[in-house]
Amino acid sequence: MHSFQDLDINTTDFNPFRLIGSDWAALTSCDGDRVNSMTVSWGGVGVLWGKNVVTVYVRKSRYTKELLDKGDSFSLTFFNSDESKYKNVLKYLGAVSGHDEDKIKTAGLTIGKKDGIPYIDEGNFIILCRKMAEIELPSEKLPEGIREKWYADGNDHTIYIGEIEGLYAR
Ligand SMILES: Cc1cc2nc3c(=O)[nH]c(=O)nc-3n(C[C@H](O)[C@H](O)[C@H](O)COP(=O)(O)O)c2cc1C
Repeated sequence: MHSFQDLDINTTDFNPFRLIGSDWAALTSCDGDRVNSMTVSWGGVGVLWGKNVVTVYVRKSRYTKELLDKGDSFSLTFFNSDESKYKNVLKYLGAVSGHDEDKIKTAGLTIGKKDGIPYIDEGNFIILCRKMAEIELPSEKLPEGIREKWYADGNDHTIYIGEIEGLYAR
């Protein structure tokens, strides 16, 4: 296991547009011993209900959703973007479902836990979150262009909002 240092959210600079949108993240959740990660490139970091929060959007077909619904936490793990092997790991975590295989094992990843929140030990920056709310996105209320482009198959998103409990960096 690697050693991580806690970062102070008030003094840490990070660019969520680059980290989430371009570099991508592994969203990790667990239910007891069952752990899974999937790649996300949509999401947000901000302030809601007076708390620092992460927001992620997870379609109902995802195995990760099953664990997110049962568990009480999740994390976003970011990897060193200079190491191309991790882009391949993220491509794998974003193409194969935990419904079909043990992705953590196949990818050769190690799960760490901080206060019960699972994360990927091979990452170099981690946002640890305690689940606050889950909201099914009402796709039928979205503008037609968005609905037709993103929800034609009925595989709607649930929005998960988590309070940031800590930032971890190597
Ligand atoms: C770059 C990239 C970004 C993705 N972003 C999301 C996302 O934000 N939400 C989502 O539900 N799926 C997203 N996916 C798809 C899931 O990662 C993919 O379906 C994965 O296999 C689901 O794994 P699971 O069934 O083990 O949870 C993304 C895939 C890739 C490659």
